[in-house]
Amino acid sequence: MPTEIDTARLRLRHWRAADREPFAALNADPTGMEFFPALLSRAESDALASRCEGLIAERGWGLWAVETKNGREFLGFVGLHRTAPELPFSPGIEISWRLAARHWGNGYATEAACAGLRVGFTQLHFPEIVAFTAVGNSTSRAVMERIGMRHTGEFFEHPKVPVSSSLRTHCLYPTTREQWEATDT
Ligand SMILES: CC(C)(COP(=O)(O)OP(=O)(O)OC[C@H]1O[C@@H](n2cnc3c(N)ncnc32)[C@H](O)[C@@H]1OP(=O)(O)O)[C@@H](O)C(=O)NCCC(=O)NCCS
Repeated sequence: MPTEIDTARLRLRHWRAADREPFAALNADPTGMEFFPALLSRAESDALASRCEGLIAERGWGLWAVETKNGREFLGFVGLHRTAPELPFSPGIEISWRLAARHWGNGYATEAACAGLRVGFTQLHFPEIVAFTAVGNSTSRAVMERIGMRHTGEFFEHPKVPVSSSLRTHCLYPTTREQWEATDT
């Protein structure tokens, strides 16, 4: 069972108490949270970190805290999660990422997500992994495409986003293990 993952520049690891402060700053940053319906308060951010921490402790995988190996700076999270039951394609496994804005533009999300996808298919043996985001989130969609996921034309209305919100329509990028094997180099 994977509990931590190393890439060339990054470590996907267990959460630490020291991550809480930079994670709260990330979740309170309007730039980083542009495609989410609301910013998170410190309490909400801590609760999310606790959930991530608890699930990794329980399963050995989840939404890992990501840090640089050179400098050990906390960047955000990247990892795998069981899709919420209310989503139209559940049950399933999603891959997800959220990095602090000042660390964008370095290829870190792609590097970490590549490793997460590999672990999901080769060690955890999930038959399919999905990614999804608000249709306008082009940077996140670019990560999906860089790691070999493809938009199959499926859209859905996210049940947790208010009906009046322009962020409600999401695009779905489902990828089977066979499709990933065919694109992985
Ligand atoms: C989505 C998100 C993770 C993307 O971050 P990102 O830094 O753009 O993505 P990557 O890590 O793949 O980096 C790619 C960029 O780094 C550049 N880059 C620089 N050095 C690089 C390197 N050594 N290797 C690869 N890419 C590199 C690439 O050229 C690319 O730049 P470009 O977009 O100008 O072409 C980030 O915007 C984010 O956290 N957003 C908020 C949370 C969110 O929306 N999550 C998704 C919700 S479902």
